[in-house]
Amino acid sequence: MKNQPEILKNFIVLEGLDGSGTTTQLMLLEKMHIENKIKHWCTFEPSDSTIGKHIRDILRGRKEVEPVTLALLFAADRNEHLFNKKNGIISHLSRGEMVLCDRYLFSSLAYQSVECEFDYVLSLNKNFPLPEFLFFLDVSPEGCKKRISARAEKDIFDDPKIQEKIYEGYERSFLVYKDSDMKFYRIDGTLDFQEISRKIWSIIHPLPI
Ligand code: TYD
Repeated sequence: MKNQPEILKNFIVLEGLDGSGTTTQLMLLEKMHIENKIKHWCTFEPSDSTIGKHIRDILRGRKEVEPVTLALLFAADRNEHLFNKKNGIISHLSRGEMVLCDRYLFSSLAYQSVECEFDYVLSLNKNFPLPEFLFFLDVSPEGCKKRISARAEKDIFDDPKIQEKIYEGYERSFLVYKDSDMKFYRIDGTLDFQEISRKIWSIIHPLPI
């Protein structure tokens, strides 16, 4: 991409396939921030806004929309999640908090491009700022399959063939930003979860807030 988007300092994003452990790592990261008395805000996408809740209904198969509509809904949710003046990511950063986020625009590029054109999804997301740190918890689709088969609640992407495509979509999305100043780390997601957490912490720990 020629004009790389702005980078939001102290904004940290975790990404990975379903079952790769992003939610667990976010919780461990939150614990470390609490123990070290570092001001922070933990958040996730889809967010808990009304748009985010609507998206979750679609993901659980309770409502059905066209793939392009879903891509637009994720972009709308993200816009609100970023820019909401009272409780958005930017407002938290401006209060001197670290913002830790489970999934962000890379999920849209990976997941929505399974059914929509990659460049179309990119066009919806290209003006959003990038995080300072992006951690990709790398677990193969096969490895994730074992983990998600134990889950009670399924979503519309819980299919091994779809997960393969999502993995390819992630690789493509990282290439888009390879020349940006975003700090990108691919972490072996099959390692012990405490070890992963220590690795992530050691990378972000020296951050000036
Ligand atoms: P969720 O129930 O939050 O659980 P988890 O992230 O722990 O798997 O599921 C979110 C789902 O939404 C996940 O399957 C990825 C998908 N998703 C998209 O398709 N596009 C997006 O832009 C985002 C943020 C998530």
